[in-house]
Amino acid sequence: MTQRKRILTGYRPTGKLHLGHLHGNLSKIIELQESADCFFFVADWHALTTDYQDPSNLRLYTEEMVLDWLAAGVDPERVNIYRQSDLPEVAELNLYLSFITPLGWLERVPSFKEQVEQLVGREISTHGFLGYPVLQAADILVCQADGVPVGEDQLPHLELTREIARRFNRLYGDFFVEPQGILSAYARISGTDGRKMSKSYDNYIGLGEEPEDIRAKLRRMVTDPARVHRYDRGDPEKCPVFSLHKIYTTDRLPEVADHCREAYWGCIECKDLLADRIILALAGFRDKRKELEAKPGLAWRVLAEGLEKVRPIARGGLAGVRTAMGLE
Ligand code: TRP
Ligand code: SF4
Repeated sequence: MTQRKRILTGYRPTGKLHLGHLHGNLSKIIELQESADCFFFVADWHALTTDYQDPSNLRLYTEEMVLDWLAAGVDPERVNIYRQSDLPEVAELNLYLSFITPLGWLERVPSFKEQVEQLVGREISTHGFLGYPVLQAADILVCQADGVPVGEDQLPHLELTREIARRFNRLYGDFFVEPQGILSAYARISGTDGRKMSKSYDNYIGLGEEPEDIRAKLRRMVTDPARVHRYDRGDPEKCPVFSLHKIYTTDRLPEVADHCREAYWGCIECKDLLADRIILALAGFRDKRKELEAKPGLAWRVLAEGLEKVRPIARGGLAGVRTAMGLE
C-alpha cells in the first residue's frame, strides 16, 4: 500500500472569502481531499504578526472563514480543520527552527522588506514579523506535510521551509521531508480594478455576496481602456473582465472574444453575461452558507474536532525533533 500524501495549507483569518481564494488553493484542497490526507488551518498567529495592534476581529473572522470553507465544499470528515493557536506544538517547533535559521535568510525574503515599507503605521519591524516564514515552516513541518498548495507569492516562503528542513537534516540527521509547492491553475484572479483580487485592495467579489451586489461590482469593473465608446473595438486579452470569462464562460469564450474585437456588443452586455454566470455558479455556495450560519457554534465544533485529529500527529513530529536535537 502506498502511503497517502499529506497536504497542508493555512489561511490568515481575513473574514469572508472571495473568488481569488476559491480559484487559488481552496479548490485545490477540495479536489485533493478525495485522495490525500489534508490539513487546513486558520493561521491566526500569522494574522497577529501584522495586526497585533487590533485583534478585535480575529475570532469573528476565524468563524466566518471556517463556515466559508465548509460552504465551498471542504469536508471536515476528510480534511483536518484546525486553528493554529490551538496547537502549541507549532510554537515549540517555531522556537527550535528559529535557532537554526540564519537572519540573512529571513531578511532576503522579498515580502519582508516590501511589507515593512507598505504597511505604514502598523510598525511591523518586529521580531515576530521577521520570523513569519519560520512560523510558517513550523506549521508545515510539524505535520510533516508532503505538499503545500500555495499562491505564487508564497513560493519564496515555501523555499525557505525547504531550506530550513535541509539544514535541520544536515545538523541532526534525516528527519524532515522537503515539502513541494502545489500551484493552482489560476495563480492570479483579477479584481474589479484589474489588480490581483485581494481584500486589502477592496476589489473582490465575495463568495456569499448577493446577486445584485455581484452584478453591480462587475458593472463597475475596469475593461480594456481602448473601448471608450460602444463602437470601439477591444482586445479581450487586455481586459480583466475577459480573464474571468475564461473561468466562467468556457463554452462561449470564442464568441465573447469576437464580440469584443468586432464591437458587436458593449461592455455592459459582456459584463452582464459574466454576472449571470458567476451568480449561477455561486448559488449553491450561498444557500449552503446560509444553512450553516443557522447552526450556532458550528465552526468552533469543527475546529475542536479537527484539533483532536491533528494533535497526536503534531506531538509525534515534535517528539522526533526533540530527540534529534538532544533534548530527549
Ligand atoms: N503565509 C500564508 C498566507 O499569508 C498563510 C500560511 C501560514 C500558510 N502558514 C502556512 C500557508 C503554511 C501554507 C502553509 O497566505
Ligand atoms: Fe472587456 Fe467584454 Fe468590454 Fe471586451 S467587451 S473590453 S472583454 S468587458
